[in-house]
Amino acid sequence: MRDKIVAGNWKMNLNFEDAIQLGTNLNAWVADNQPDAQVIISPSSIYLQVLLEAVDEQYVKVASQDISAHDKGAYTGDISGEQLDSIGLDFAIIGHSERREYQGETDAIIAEKLKQAFKNQINPIFCIGEKLEEREAEQHFEVVKSQLLNALKSQNIEDLSRLIIAYEPVWAIGTGKTASPEQAQEIHAYIRKVLNDEFGVEVANETSILYGGSVNAQNANDIFSQPDIDGGLVGGASLKYEDFIQIIAACK
Ligand code: G3P
Repeated sequence: MRDKIVAGNWKMNLNFEDAIQLGTNLNAWVADNQPDAQVIISPSSIYLQVLLEAVDEQYVKVASQDISAHDKGAYTGDISGEQLDSIGLDFAIIGHSERREYQGETDAIIAEKLKQAFKNQINPIFCIGEKLEEREAEQHFEVVKSQLLNALKSQNIEDLSRLIIAYEPVWAIGTGKTASPEQAQEIHAYIRKVLNDEFGVEVANETSILYGGSVNAQNANDIFSQPDIDGGLVGGASLKYEDFIQIIAACK
């Protein structure tokens, strides 16, 4: 049975004090309430180690928001998989649309980042999703399949047991315009079909596919109740404790 996961992508938000406060409050809530979903928080990289120490990993896991495509060396500002693994990190968001847009991350670069994650026993939360103009042109299935295969075809199939996929339609990120549960289910089922056709039934059935894009306390139940949606990758609402715990509780 694949894992139910609710991950909070904090992006470039929160100062040190607020990050520690949110992380420790979430940890206490998870310990008290034992939700069905695995809870993951993804802070800015400067807070990774202190949050790993502040939470209990049996309750809350910590993810980086990126990983270098390189092993080590003269890559100023990068953080390698070996360095992330060395502080005990188990998860990394890879290929987020904001990094594709602002940092020019291509499918080829993302494929290398995935390799680095797998090489260092880090579980990637691999982000895919179409832009508004691609959805309006009804190219979203083609786009998502291309993103999947361009990044996954070169991976060792045994590594895919670590894979988590996040489908995040770019037009729903930070816009308050969420994909309908039916729209999300349709493309999640398609993603699972592509995994099945390309990598086999075990990879298809065992890979958690999260939805991201304006998930909030009001829509989480309807979205997470869909058969091929295994949880969420949440941005803005994950910064608000009261909202995020409701979203976690909705993932059953
Ligand atoms: O990675 C999750 C993020 O892109 C979704 O953002 O604010 O629409 O929940 P938001």
